[in-house]
Amino acid sequence: MIILQCTPHRFSALLAATVLSTLFFPGPYHVHAQFTLPSSFINPLIGTTGPEPGQSGGMVPSVAPPFGSCKWVVQNQQNWVSRTSFNFTDDYKVYGFIGSRQPAIWMGESAWAGVVPGSGDKIKTGWDERGMNRVKGSEEFGVGFYGVELEQEKGKIKVEMSATSRVGHFRFTFTDTEQPYIFVPVTRQSTLFHTPNIFNHSYFPTGTVEITESGGQNRSLEICGSNDELQDQLLAPTSIAENAKNFKGFICARFSAHSSYGITSGNTTEENAVSGSGRELGAFVRFKATPHASTVVDVRIGTSLISTDQARWNIDNEVPEGDEVEATRKKTEAKWAEKIGRFEIDTDDEEGKAVFLTAVSRATQFPYEVHDPTSGGVSRYYSAYDNAIHEGDSYNGYSIWDTYRAAWSFQLLFAPERIPGMVRSMLHDFKEGGWLPMWKNIVETNIMVSTHSDSLLAEAIRKGFLSAFTDGELTTMWEAVWKDASIPPVNDENTVYSDRQEGVDFEARAGLTTYMNKSMGWVAVDVHSESVSRTLDYAYDDHVLSILSSLLPNHITATTNTNVNLTQFLDTRARRNAWIVWNNSTGFVQARFRNGSFDPDTAAGFTEGSRGVYSLSQGLVWGDSIHDLVERRGGISGFVDSLDDYFNGPEVDFRNEPAHHTPYLYALASPAHARSTQSLVRELAKANFNNTPQGLSGNDDCGQTSSWYIFSAMGFYSVDPASGEYVLGSPFFSKMTVHIPKSLVHGNEDPHGAYNSKTDSYVLQISAKGAEKKWHVEDVRVNGVSKKDTMRIQHEDIIWGGVIEFDMTD
Ligand SMILES: *[C@@H]1O[C@H](CO)[C@@H](O)[C@H](O)[C@H]1NC(C)=O
Ligand SMILES: *[C@@H]1O[C@H](CO)[C@@H](O)[C@H](O)[C@H]1NC(C)=O
Ligand SMILES: *[C@@H]1O[C@H](CO)[C@@H](O)[C@H](O)[C@H]1NC(C)=O
Ligand SMILES: *[C@@H]1O[C@H](CO)[C@@H](O)[C@H](O)[C@H]1NC(C)=O
Ligand SMILES: *[C@@H]1O[C@H](CO)[C@@H](O)[C@H](O)[C@H]1NC(C)=O
Ligand SMILES: *[C@@H]1O[C@H](CO)[C@@H](O)[C@H](O)[C@H]1NC(C)=O
Ligand SMILES: *[C@@H]1O[C@H](CO)[C@@H](O)[C@H](O)[C@H]1NC(C)=O
Ligand SMILES: *[C@@H]1O[C@H](CO)[C@@H](O)[C@H](O)[C@H]1NC(C)=O
Repeated sequence: MIILQCTPHRFSALLAATVLSTLFFPGPYHVHAQFTLPSSFINPLIGTTGPEPGQSGGMVPSVAPPFGSCKWVVQNQQNWVSRTSFNFTDDYKVYGFIGSRQPAIWMGESAWAGVVPGSGDKIKTGWDERGMNRVKGSEEFGVGFYGVELEQEKGKIKVEMSATSRVGHFRFTFTDTEQPYIFVPVTRQSTLFHTPNIFNHSYFPTGTVEITESGGQNRSLEICGSNDELQDQLLAPTSIAENAKNFKGFICARFSAHSSYGITSGNTTEENAVSGSGRELGAFVRFKATPHASTVVDVRIGTSLISTDQARWNIDNEVPEGDEVEATRKKTEAKWAEKIGRFEIDTDDEEGKAVFLTAVSRATQFPYEVHDPTSGGVSRYYSAYDNAIHEGDSYNGYSIWDTYRAAWSFQLLFAPERIPGMVRSMLHDFKEGGWLPMWKNIVETNIMVSTHSDSLLAEAIRKGFLSAFTDGELTTMWEAVWKDASIPPVNDENTVYSDRQEGVDFEARAGLTTYMNKSMGWVAVDVHSESVSRTLDYAYDDHVLSILSSLLPNHITATTNTNVNLTQFLDTRARRNAWIVWNNSTGFVQARFRNGSFDPDTAAGFTEGSRGVYSLSQGLVWGDSIHDLVERRGGISGFVDSLDDYFNGPEVDFRNEPAHHTPYLYALASPAHARSTQSLVRELAKANFNNTPQGLSGNDDCGQTSSWYIFSAMGFYSVDPASGEYVLGSPFFSKMTVHIPKSLVHGNEDPHGAYNSKTDSYVLQISAKGAEKKWHVEDVRVNGVSKKDTMRIQHEDIIWGGVIEFDMTD
């Protein structure tokens, strides 16, 4: 999660903002028609409001395919950092429709597209005047379709909306309206997040627009243009900031009809004008109103980060002439069926089932593709890191401090066709900007701490994706992660790297200078922000890189360092440094000054958390480290008491990511105490998730919160994701049948006879009779082998399907 806290910072008066918070391989994307979309159990309104942004899912009811480039949303508010385009209330008005690229509530918008229907002589370009009431009961929300009827002064407008990855597709039906029109906003007044002023409202992105009459039945007219809005631009690292200033989004909107048109600028309307440029820019198209009949207009809006020509090409490629909205809907829903339809759930807990299936739709949206296909078959993308167009795949919206925990584990299992592209995209960022992504929103934003790309890459290789990459790519991969582990950011000893600090370069592992120093080993609280969290997270990342180094061929790792055994070096550093911030007399982690003394302020040095949760950090509990933690807390009973104290205490906050793995620590430390994990997981699921617009207690964070629910409901969770191990919990439903996609990395093995050729998947049966009411696990068998004594399973226990049987008891 990301929270903007207005508390003064230790180092400066700057705002301290913290973030809470087929195979593959190139080729066409195959949709398995065998899956059906359980539409009645998908509720796109879950998590779309809350009392304040930190206590909301931060979700919008968007329409796009999985990992789609532009997500189309009914808009009831303007969006900026801390506000999404839609916030559910009972009586909202509709102000138009936005093709949004805002990846999370605490991140900025960029390269959006928009469309607003209306009626009357005046084109309503002002925000307030655009608001339209919905006809009661007319709204339909889906992942591939949204529909509504909008009241006008006279008559009404029916809106039917669907979308492919790069094209929004609308049908507007004007009934009994006078002077129907469609307004296409191109640039708007926007809001920058700016640390000294918090919000600087006087930001006016600029753009261009051009109208061309194309002729022909379905391509009566086109409005094409560009917009340079990039709300997070002030966060661009200094070495690429100039390049990023050239970033633009391109649109091309194709209309099936028109009678006249014009350009708008602010509140000024110029009928019959064909081009314009500047701020608060727009274009409009008018239609003939037929008395006592409806006027139907089909609009397709292509988008691209490359050019208007490419946006136009994307229309023809994704929504060809003659395709109706229904056809687009069917195509997009089939793609969702391939994701959500993989989970068949037998339960009487209909609410839990809806939360689960909706969560799957959230865990398969980010990162989203920004490359465009071309007629030659090779995709291209625009990189704002170097302001150039390159060949290959590119993705955006990497909320890695959040998603390394479980969202990536989910995608490795259920979206394997995307993994090579997402990994290559990270390698492209490294080549073009010098570093792997931390929080990439068009370019790096330096939001949140540590280089958890290391974890994503290590986990992908651990889970079999080695063969997806060439030697050259693996060499780049190792070069990039070794840079994370060995090269401090420029000016490291003089830069605080407070959250959202402007005018700094890539943050990477800020404080690595002292973390690497053999006579130190910690990030110093009087030099850097969030120093304890950094130290622990760098240790965790050292651990995952130790794993990665052991899996990559020697000739790859030898390219960076031939003198030391890297696996051993990183493992040793991870084990040593995490404990350097542990204070034996308090039994908690604590910040240290550069001179080595502990900071008496025990609240100092944490990233969206406190010493309670960070003393259970993943940097301290991976592998057998958990036993060291147990020892330092006085053995199993002392450790269990300390966990009880934490969960019953005032500090516990499950809404934020650092807590996500903590309920699993009882079972991890001692299978004899797994019952506490089981009841906690179930209580937390009930308390923090439900099937309403308030149904997420904290930000979804690009699928991480949803992935916690999905794994927990299946009965296991990735506490140490790159190790390939999952800790067993308490499954939520009596029976689940899960179709795990077969991918090249899984090989051709079928050890459990669980391969289903119809769905080209290995079928995993998870049975837990009575789990809805019975929360405790008496015994659990994986393909007949009891796991009661370890309460752990390995990735290989599930990827070929088979049976997990939980014996539930109350
Ligand atoms: C949504 O709107 C309600 C009502 O105006 C407001 O109280 C709430 O803070 C908003 N929530 C978010 C997450 O913006
Ligand atoms: C346009 O008109 C609206 C309402 O009439 C007003 O609030 C807004 O400031 C005007 N915008 C400009 C750019 O003049
Ligand atoms: C125009 O679109 C309609 C449906 O909207 C379709 O039936 C027709 O074939 C299209 N015409 C052309 C020339 O593509
Ligand atoms: C390591 O830290 C010690 C203690 O602060 C300091 O004296 C020494 O100069 C540091 N070494 C390097 C290489 O920075
Ligand atoms: C490096 O260290 C690891 C862990 O101690 C060990 O398993 C491995 O064999 C070592 N590699 C070499 C080349 O010695
Ligand atoms: C803290 O305790 C651990 C384990 O009990 C011990 O190994 C370590 O030396 C102690 N550290 C200090 C600074 O006393
Ligand atoms: C270490 O540095 C801190 C912060 O500057 C200071 O308060 C403390 O007195 C120093 N401790 C020693 C032993 O010098
Ligand atoms: C723990 O921290 C306190 C200051 O908060 C310090 O006085 C004490 O020496 C530390 N304990 C150890 C074992 O380092």
